[in-house]
Amino acid sequence: VIFNDSKTGSFEVAKEIAKLIRKKQEAGKKCVLGLATGSSPIKVYEELVRMHKEEGLSFKNVVTFNLDEYYPMERNNIQSYHYFMHQHLFDHVDIDPANVNIPDGTVSPDKLQKYCRSYESQIEKAGGLDFQLLGIGRTGHIGFNEPGSHFNSATRDITLDHITRVDAAPAFKGLENVPRKAVTMGIGTIRKAKRIVLLAWGQNKSEIVRETIEGEISSEVPATYLQEHSNATFVLDKEAAAHL
Ligand code: GLP
Repeated sequence: VIFNDSKTGSFEVAKEIAKLIRKKQEAGKKCVLGLATGSSPIKVYEELVRMHKEEGLSFKNVVTFNLDEYYPMERNNIQSYHYFMHQHLFDHVDIDPANVNIPDGTVSPDKLQKYCRSYESQIEKAGGLDFQLLGIGRTGHIGFNEPGSHFNSATRDITLDHITRVDAAPAFKGLENVPRKAVTMGIGTIRKAKRIVLLAWGQNKSEIVRETIEGEISSEVPATYLQEHSNATFVLDKEAAAHL
């Protein structure tokens, strides 16, 4: 779906999420959301916060699982995805902190595999992801599933691609400060979501958006695996859609 600008697209996505939360609430059920970081989802979170404050949208029945976190990474570091999520969403809504799950960048290396398996089983225990929000990296990564990621991959630690680290360098005030690794949900984890919405804004994303939507399905562009999902939508602005 192509919108004139990111604001209009983000509002539509926020509306869909709010509708799902309310529908689950009415049915007395939990709503399990897979959430993303980066600049792409910021306006979606802003709109959800506005709906909470002005329209009484409650997050009491919402359980969240974030896609990824840098590794190693302290929670209170301003570059952490923990910090990002609290700053943009969790600190402004009535979600139960016990229902918030973000990969932990402080787990010791010897415990990491076990930790990743438990993250995966927490998602399953919650009943699976009802909705997964995604951005896309210029390498075609979703979460931090860099080129080479297997379509059945699960939550694991991964080495970041050079392009990804270059893109993150300004936020870390220099490439040398960008972590080399991350913990990410796998492609397999994401594919199991009942509904997937990927956001891409701006000309910078237009080439990878074209490859993802029109290219052959390949582990070289992990986002192409979404072509096979039965309920995935790409929400784009005109600039991101320019090469389609
Ligand atoms: C990071 C995140 C991804 C995100 C990507 C794009 O690498 N791990 O989940 O999709 O950045 O970021 P942005 O939305 O800022 O372009």
